[in-house]
Amino acid sequence: MRIYIKDIKNKIGEEIKIKGFVQTIRDQSKIKFLIIRDISGIIQAVLLSENSEAFKATDGLTNESVVEIIGKAKEEKQAPEGVEIEIREIKILSLADPNLPIPVVEKTGGEVDVNKRFDWRWIDLRKNDKLMMMKIWTEMERFFRKFWEENKYLEIHSPKLMGSPSESGANVFEVKYFDRKAYLAQSPQFYKQMAMASGLEKVFEVGPVFRAEPSFTTRHSTEFVGYDAEISYIESHQDVIGEIERMINFVLSGIKDKFEGEIRDVFGQEVVVPQIPFPQLTMAEAKKILSNLGVPSQDNDLSPEEERAICDYIKEKEGHEFVFITEYPIDIRPFYHMRKEDNPNITKSSDLLWKGVEIITLAQREHRYDVLVNQAKEKGLGNSVDFYTNFFKYGCPPHGGFGLGASRFLMKMLDLPSIREATYLFRGVNRLEP
Ligand code: 4AD
Ligand code: MG
Repeated sequence: MRIYIKDIKNKIGEEIKIKGFVQTIRDQSKIKFLIIRDISGIIQAVLLSENSEAFKATDGLTNESVVEIIGKAKEEKQAPEGVEIEIREIKILSLADPNLPIPVVEKTGGEVDVNKRFDWRWIDLRKNDKLMMMKIWTEMERFFRKFWEENKYLEIHSPKLMGSPSESGANVFEVKYFDRKAYLAQSPQFYKQMAMASGLEKVFEVGPVFRAEPSFTTRHSTEFVGYDAEISYIESHQDVIGEIERMINFVLSGIKDKFEGEIRDVFGQEVVVPQIPFPQLTMAEAKKILSNLGVPSQDNDLSPEEERAICDYIKEKEGHEFVFITEYPIDIRPFYHMRKEDNPNITKSSDLLWKGVEIITLAQREHRYDVLVNQAKEKGLGNSVDFYTNFFKYGCPPHGGFGLGASRFLMKMLDLPSIREATYLFRGVNRLEP
C-alpha cells in the first residue's frame, strides 16, 4: 500500500511504497539520488548501481516525471528530512518532457515572468507555496462553512444563468441562450434575498460570481468565488456587522490554530485573530481623516489609495487590521440598500476593509415593496427588476447580508501580491486559458 512521504519517518527499517513527482535527479554514475515529492512533502531516494534492473529503468528519467518506488526506509543524517528510501523497485508512471516550460524549483522565486507562470499554471501549482495556498483555502472554506453550520444557516445554490442582470446593467456578461439572451450572475444577491421571502431565515452560498469589469488591478477578476450570506429579522445593518465580526474571528482563530507556523514560514505573515468589535468609521469621518492626512479624494467613494491610507491610520491608532466604513451615500449604492430613517441620503450599508482592501460589502435591504419599487424607479431601472421586487410583495422579513470575495480574503491573509496568486485558476480580461 502506498504511504505518504511525511509518514516515512515512522517506518524506519520497513519496506514501503511511495508515489510522486521526481523533483530532482543527481546522477553520480554508481549511485543516483532522486528527490521525490508528494502532497505531504519530499524525500531523498537512493538508487545503487548494484540494483542493475532499477538502475537501468531510470536511464532517461526526467525531472517532474511521476514514479512509484518500493524500497527500504532508512535513517540518514545527510538526507533532507533525516530519512531516505533505498530503492528496490522503481516504476515510471509518466515520463515528463525534459523541456519544462517553467521550473518547479526556483532559486530565488519570482524569476519567471508572471504571465508565463500562469500560462503553465498546473506546473506552477506544484510549488510548495502554491500547494500551501490550496491547503489553506480548503481549511478557510471549511471554517466559513463550519460557522454557518453551527449558526443554523441553510445552504443555497442559486442559478448563475439569469433572465436579467442581477445587480446592474453594467459589468454583466451576456450569453446566448437558445433564442434569447441570458446573463451570468454578478452576485447571488437577488436569489439569496428570495430565500428570505421563502422563510429560510438564514442562508449562505459558496459559488461563482461573474463580473465583466475591464479592470487590470491586483484585486479584480472576472470570475471569482463568492461567500454570500443573508439573515432575516435583523434590526439594522449593525446586526450584519456583528455576525461578520464573529464569523471572521472564528475563521481566523481556526486558521491560526492549524497553520500559524506554515503561514509564518512560507508567507512571512502573522495570523492575527481580530478583537471584537472591529473599529467603525462613517464615510464622512473617513473622508475627514483622509483630508487631514493629505490623501486626495476623487469622489464620495473610497479610492484604492484612500482604502490603504485609512487602514494604515486605523492600524496605527487602534492596532486593528480591520475597519468597517459605514453611512455610504445613496448615489454610490444600489437601489436595494435600505436608507436611514433619519437621513434618506444615507444607506444602512457598510464595506469591511482589511489591510487596505475591501473584502466585504454588506447592507440591510429594503424589504418594503412600495419603497423598493420607488427606489428602483429613482435609479432608472425599468421593469427588468419586477421579477425581483415581486419577492417582497407577499410578505418578507426584514433582512440584510453580505458578500465576501474568497480570493481577496486569502490574498490578505497570506499577504499575496495579487488576487491571481490566491486563486486556483485566475480569470481576467486577458486570461481565459488554461
Ligand atoms: O462589493 P460587491 O460587488 O457586493 C455585492 O456583490 C453585493 N451583492 C453584496 C451584498 O451582499 N451586499 O461584491 C462583494 C465582494 C467584494 O467586497 C469583494 O470582496 C468581492 O466580492 N469582489 C471581487 N473579488 C474579485 N474580483 C472582483 N472583480 C470582485 N468584485 C467584488
Ligand atoms: Mg463592494
